[in-house]
Amino acid sequence: MILQLSPRLLSGLVLAWQTAVAVAEWPQGETVDAFIATEREIALKGVLANIGPNGTKVPGAAAGIVIASPSKTDPNYFYTWTRDAALTLKTLIDELEFGNTGLQVYIEDYIHAQAILQTVTNPSGGLLPSGAGLGEPKYNADGTRYNGNWGRPQRDGPALRSIAMIQYSNYLISKGETGKVKDVIWPVISNDLSYTGQYWNSTGFDLWEEVSGSSFFTTQNQYRALVDGTALAKTLGVSCTGCDQAPQVLCFLQTYWNGKYFTANINGNFGRNGVDANVMLGAISAFDVNAPCNSSTLQPCHSRMLSNFNVFVNTFRDPSLYPINAGVAPNRGVALGRYPEDTYYSGNPWYLITLGAAEFLYDAVAQWTVQGRIAIDATSLPFFRTLYPNATIATYDKRCKRSTAYRQILAAASAYADSFVAVAQAHTPADGSLAEQFLKTAPGTPISAAALTWSFASFVSMAHRRAGKFPPSWTTPATSALPATCAATSAKGSYAPATGAGAPDVPSVCTSTVLFRVNATTYYGENIYLTGNSSDLGAWDLGSAQPMQSSNYTSERPLWFAKLPLTAGETISYSYVREEDCGQPWIWEDRNRTLVVPACVEGGETEVLLETDEKWEGEVGRGGGC
Ligand SMILES: *[C@@H]1O[C@H](CO)[C@@H](O)[C@H](O)[C@H]1NC(C)=O
Ligand SMILES: *[C@@H]1O[C@H](CO)[C@@H](O)[C@H](O)[C@H]1NC(C)=O
Ligand SMILES: *[C@@H]1O[C@H](CO)[C@@H](O)[C@H](O)[C@H]1NC(C)=O
Ligand SMILES: *[C@@H]1O[C@H](CO)[C@@H](O)[C@H](O)[C@H]1NC(C)=O
Ligand SMILES: *[C@@H]1O[C@H](CO)[C@@H](O)[C@H](O)[C@H]1NC(C)=O
Ligand SMILES: *[C@@H]1O[C@H](CO)[C@@H](O)[C@H](O)[C@H]1NC(C)=O
Ligand SMILES: *[C@@H]1O[C@H](CO)[C@@H](O)[C@H](O)[C@H]1NC(C)=O
Ligand SMILES: *[C@@H]1O[C@H](CO)[C@@H](O)[C@H](O)[C@H]1NC(C)=O
Repeated sequence: MILQLSPRLLSGLVLAWQTAVAVAEWPQGETVDAFIATEREIALKGVLANIGPNGTKVPGAAAGIVIASPSKTDPNYFYTWTRDAALTLKTLIDELEFGNTGLQVYIEDYIHAQAILQTVTNPSGGLLPSGAGLGEPKYNADGTRYNGNWGRPQRDGPALRSIAMIQYSNYLISKGETGKVKDVIWPVISNDLSYTGQYWNSTGFDLWEEVSGSSFFTTQNQYRALVDGTALAKTLGVSCTGCDQAPQVLCFLQTYWNGKYFTANINGNFGRNGVDANVMLGAISAFDVNAPCNSSTLQPCHSRMLSNFNVFVNTFRDPSLYPINAGVAPNRGVALGRYPEDTYYSGNPWYLITLGAAEFLYDAVAQWTVQGRIAIDATSLPFFRTLYPNATIATYDKRCKRSTAYRQILAAASAYADSFVAVAQAHTPADGSLAEQFLKTAPGTPISAAALTWSFASFVSMAHRRAGKFPPSWTTPATSALPATCAATSAKGSYAPATGAGAPDVPSVCTSTVLFRVNATTYYGENIYLTGNSSDLGAWDLGSAQPMQSSNYTSERPLWFAKLPLTAGETISYSYVREEDCGQPWIWEDRNRTLVVPACVEGGETEVLLETDEKWEGEVGRGGGC
């Protein structure tokens, strides 16, 4: 899911490309109906097989831990991501509400597991006092911290997790279990809403874990989380720290619009045009079948969302980008990837995005059906012309003279949705397993992580929408009102371990950020790590050493650096170590260093309070020439 620009990984990618194996494909010619009937069950089983403790594909995963994929090499996705897990649980909670009550045990395990994960101090920080640790994107399968280099923090995770848990809470309340929601689940949700209210206006990494800035998908889910939280807090008679930020988050959300589409990532220079599946995935996450199309919550049927969808899909019709899409008619679905500049595994179509396009269209069709009308404006006209060439700027109402056209547009949109499912179908192997990607060149062989949980979950969610099964409404006219002007704001969160859900009663550990800088000349392929005697530094275990960054390395200044939150006031013993290529042993420095971590500053958890300026002391490495 992330592009790590290390030579090691790049060679892994080339290898993965070459070793993609041809697999028997799904029986051709089968209808989309028949395909979905079979594949839906396979996909649901696929999700459950990747959840601990009993998931057959993920031995070693703790109870309630959702593993991204059983794949442990090329790529290694045997971790739990807060985002993937929350999106998956949201779909399981939908499924529960549609009658699959056997899933309740998974949901209860998930809540318990997340309550504990919230307290795990990690490279993004801790739960206490600042909530910073909640922005950590992923953890090991056993629920311990992941120490490797990563795109952190990611601020969509807490929002998505609270959206899922709030939906489940409302379900329990409808069954009379309000007390349990208040005592057990709300404290978990409250931490995530606090985090969202405190950090919505701070930059972080996007859902693809590659660029740090502000990201549409994150902002849209943050808004929804705060609105959902406001309503639940009211039901429970408790106060919600952070929820008052919702109107400003909504205001900010509108600013991603550039006149033709929503620029997926802003507040940074990314060298991309901003066309990205990010936005479409945001819209399906915020879907409310009863919301009006002009709602500023930016629903699938919103004119700007439809324009965005059209630009996004048409970008991938270009056969020089995706040869597999050559010759497909403009009103038929194509294979879709993350964004046109993508280079991860050479930038291929993803199942969850191609299926997401189908879901997006089923959502819009459902909204037009509820409203009994389709209002076409200049912004959405190009989208509608692909479905219905005679479309004009007008309102098509089922009760008046354009009723025939109204019905034709709905039928064309449904057929368009089905044609995206058919694209996924054409690249689904006979056993129904869904990897992360399929190749952009014929025959579109599956590639990258096998049996991806999110791919399976996206299939189940798409199938729900196609079958007319919708999650509960969440928007109201009041919640969609925009402030007169947007403002940069934040609300200080309040955080506490959710002990009622099984979290340990961790003490408040104050951290201070230290910037370690060391001049160390290295050869291409050699990396520098920091290790030391504190648990933050891996207690001398090289497997948990902190990776350093070389992004400012020059021949004048061979700088490696790492910005680390460390336990305030602690005296640490540490040293730098070299990771060699070709399986050569690590090289340690000749000395150990000591440093006293400064006292922490309230509200200054991410400020650098101390920086070192050091140079490597000891033996240097030599490339193994492998
Ligand atoms: C896992 O297996 C144990 C033992 O059979 C059972 O008690 C538990 O409910 C199972 N959990 C799930 C999520 O199926
Ligand atoms: C913070 O909010 C203001 C007002 O909406 C916006 O202009 C700014 O880009 C936001 N910054 C981040 C990092 O979210
Ligand atoms: C949406 O449209 C309705 C009716 O056409 C109108 O009353 C309402 O003010 C509009 N809402 C927004 C957010 O533009
Ligand atoms: C579109 O408009 C043309 C010209 O007015 C007409 O001949 C044709 O039947 C229309 N097509 C549909 C699908 O209504
Ligand atoms: C790395 O370079 C950037 C851009 O010049 C600078 O802003 C940043 O402070 C540098 N980081 C370190 C650790 O020197
Ligand atoms: C780490 O080393 C320092 C310096 O020797 C010492 O003061 C500190 O107590 C040690 N910490 C741990 C956790 O052993
Ligand atoms: C650094 O400290 C560790 C742990 O006490 C020790 O094993 C190692 O020998 C020390 N290294 C040097 C160079 O003194
Ligand atoms: C690291 O390199 C920079 C640039 O050459 C130099 O200014 C600095 O003094 C060096 N640090 C050490 C500890 O040698």
